[in-house]
Amino acid sequence: MRAVSWAMAAGLLLAAACGNEGSQRLAEPVTIEGDAILTPLGGETGDASRGKAVFTDREQGHCVLCHAVAGLEAEFQGNVGPPLTGLGDRLSPGQIRLRIADAQRIWPQTVMPSYYRTGGLNQVGEAYRGEPALSARQIEDLVAWLSTLKTQDGEE
Ligand code: HEC
Repeated sequence: MRAVSWAMAAGLLLAAACGNEGSQRLAEPVTIEGDAILTPLGGETGDASRGKAVFTDREQGHCVLCHAVAGLEAEFQGNVGPPLTGLGDRLSPGQIRLRIADAQRIWPQTVMPSYYRTGGLNQVGEAYRGEPALSARQIEDLVAWLSTLKTQDGEE
């Protein structure tokens, strides 16, 4: 009897640890509330103009590969992902942060990379193991810029 209850307790602990796995697979421990990460990553303060560059720059986020934003000056804007025009009206900064940091947590089958993940990756090449695809600062810059996108007053 006793052995069985110990085994059950261990199983419960394991289950609890696994349930929390989503918050430990990123480059830093984060608290996920609902579908949002409310605290800025790395304690960084995002800068919207840098974020716009991260969004379009091939060497950085290159989000335009899959996402268009009306009014954005960029040679090529893809449509694999939904347009992010007016995103600031639809999602809070915390919701945007989680979607960039760990898109696969929201949409398990998505083609969008989980940019702040370091664990359990199945899409990012060997070279990136242990390093998230984007830094905390780059993600905070993106969150700052994307939050400014409102349908009312244009997109800048
Ligand atoms: C390979 C294509 C791809 C790339 C690259 C990509 N995304 Fe996505 N993204 C998607 C898809 C597809 C979705 C929709 C989720 C789904 O159903 O898979 C999405 C959804 C989103 C959403 C939620 C939009 C909404 O209206 O709810 C945000 C925000 C977002 N992406 C931001 C970004 C940012 C920022 C980058 C660059 C760092 C980026 N994405 C790069 C494909 C991509």
